[in-house]
Amino acid sequence: MTRIFSGIKPTGHLTLGNHLGAVRQWVDVDQHKSDAVFCVVDLHALTVEHDPARVRRLSRQAATLLLAAGLDPALCTLFVQSHVDEHTRLSYLLECTASDGEMRRMIQYKEKSARERATGGSVRLSLLTYPVLMAADILAYSADEVPVGDDQAQHVELTRDLAVRFNQRYGHTFTVPKAVLPSVAARVMDLQDPTSKMGKSHAETGGIVYLLDEPDVVRRKIMRAVTDSGSEVVYDRETRPGVTNLLEILAACVGGAPAELAEGYSSYGALKRDTADAVLELLRPVRERHTELCADPGYVDAVLRAGAERARALARPTVDAAYAAIGLMPPA
Ligand code: TYM
Repeated sequence: MTRIFSGIKPTGHLTLGNHLGAVRQWVDVDQHKSDAVFCVVDLHALTVEHDPARVRRLSRQAATLLLAAGLDPALCTLFVQSHVDEHTRLSYLLECTASDGEMRRMIQYKEKSARERATGGSVRLSLLTYPVLMAADILAYSADEVPVGDDQAQHVELTRDLAVRFNQRYGHTFTVPKAVLPSVAARVMDLQDPTSKMGKSHAETGGIVYLLDEPDVVRRKIMRAVTDSGSEVVYDRETRPGVTNLLEILAACVGGAPAELAEGYSSYGALKRDTADAVLELLRPVRERHTELCADPGYVDAVLRAGAERARALARPTVDAAYAAIGLMPPA
């Protein structure tokens, strides 16, 4: 059976981008067709300045929202990364496999470190080594597929390179995984700035739809989305990024191809209204279930406890094999 691994970082409230780019595939497809393992990757949230209480709160919220979105513990494994030591155990071996140059070439590192430096902040070393921890997340579970949005594709490529290199140097140890991107909405853009990604940790929130936004807030954000000059509804990322983003969101919610949906609209207003309705319809059951689950924290704890136990059992043999292969003496 295909093994799938993916994760989400608790650095902010989950967004429509996370949902359409990743979580929906996990819920609708991945957990049904494969042995799927999903993780709230809290260690990754420590790579930028963070408030400990907020990370803790957001980790629980992310896990609760994943269950509310429809992950079913009877079908998949859901756990919190820091509950399973194998991730950090393996990460060090992969630091001994990766080169400093390839880390510095990662787009997310370049963008985030430039942003930190521009505001006078210091860049944590873990921001540079972050993709190695992500590779460890994936390789520890011998994942065949990694369902992610477009922004994570480069990190999965690096993971493949590290797996191949390790296997060549030390003997076959890791499955070489591949990224699987959704056919639409692989990169949902910010509604106020449709040339940049809708990101959960951005400071300006007017262009970001959060899964837990009140319905009237969601509608307002979509109705106020920046559109392009001109008035025709055309699907073209280069010349019409705003409208194209709305068409992608609509297509992801109702099905169909964005270019074909465009033909049914003669005004931006109608497109925005239908997109808002479709998003609200998609998010309504998630919000309702989230409220129910918040009333039952014991259930979420039990799911995460069982998830971590299963994850540990899955990862342990592969990580032990990597320790042996690289030349570390086993304990007596
Ligand atoms: P994160 O937490 O930023 O995002 C979680 C998932 O949501 C996708 N995504 C988007 N998709 C479409 N449009 C957007 N605007 C958008 N924003 C986010 C991301 O591509 C991702 O699939 N490094 C990862 C977390 C991670 C991970 C892993 C993922 C750590 N270890 C192992 C897969 C496998 C991250 O920061 O995702």
